[in-house]
Amino acid sequence: MTSDRKGEGAPGQAGPEPVPTPEPNGSGSVPGQAGPTPVLRLEAVRKTFGRTVVLRDVDLEVAPHTVTALIGASGSGKSTLLRCANLLEEVDDGAIFLDGEEITDPRVDPDAVRRRIGVVFQAYNLFPHMTVLDNITLAPRRVHGEPRARAEERARELLERLGLGGKAGEYPDRLSGGQQQRVAIVRALAGRPRLLLLDEITAALDPELVGEVLGVVRDLKEEGMTMVLATHEMGFARDVADQVCFLDGGVVLERGTAAEVFGDPREERTRRFLRRLVEAGRL
Ligand SMILES: Nc1ncnc2c1ncn2[C@@H]1O[C@H](COP(=O)(O)OP(=O)(O)O)[C@@H](O)[C@H]1O
Ligand SMILES: [Mg+2]
Repeated sequence: MTSDRKGEGAPGQAGPEPVPTPEPNGSGSVPGQAGPTPVLRLEAVRKTFGRTVVLRDVDLEVAPHTVTALIGASGSGKSTLLRCANLLEEVDDGAIFLDGEEITDPRVDPDAVRRRIGVVFQAYNLFPHMTVLDNITLAPRRVHGEPRARAEERARELLERLGLGGKAGEYPDRLSGGQQQRVAIVRALAGRPRLLLLDEITAALDPELVGEVLGVVRDLKEEGMTMVLATHEMGFARDVADQVCFLDGGVVLERGTAAEVFGDPREERTRRFLRRLVEAGRL
């Protein structure tokens, strides 16, 4: 059995209506459902690698301007879920929707979908032979066809906002891990994504550098960016997430608000997972 507390007040559905902002497809909503069209929706997604079922019947809804945290043990399927959402992995069954459009439809161009989604991984994957500015503007210029001047203007503006104003001309190896990861976030934002997927973006960082990267994610949330993040930073997930999903063996075993999942987990396996983190001093 899985616990789903959506009926008790899913993120974005409680409290007063947020100030309306223009959304692509914003006027449409899923039939039979209150609230705006989810930015991302997974419907009974199944993913296998050979004979291993990695995601089984995963449903997920991410409302505009909300943060969803995926938590769960290593191997529970968090990265695979994010990779499926970005069409880096093909699903075996089910469907994925971005702004109400089915992106798992074989007629959809995956590159066009990926241009609407920003992704940041654990490893920053910056090109070492290119400056920060060139790393950031490469995709906007090559993939989005933006003129260099405009791409660079936006890159500099984002660098400034993320506290990297002086670093445009630097090479990645001259930056700290935290700075490199912030550059990777700028790179993901450069294409004005509709959705940001963040996979354990602080896992490779020295502890003293984690805070500056999480601070950026907090700021992006304040600005209304819609995000799905896989994280082991439970304190951060508890603070920042509107929705928390606990994955266990490829199933979303439990979901709810951060207060529900962390404060009063329903499932024994969730309780055990959280207890182990407390024992390890990580929560
Ligand atoms: N490319 C792959 N080929 C085979 N198995 C994979 C592949 N990617 C992930 N897996 C398996 O899928 C399961 C879920 O992995 P993953 O999504 O990386 O979990 P998490 O991010 O929660 O640690 C694991 O058992 C992992 O070994
Ligand atoms: Mg992972």
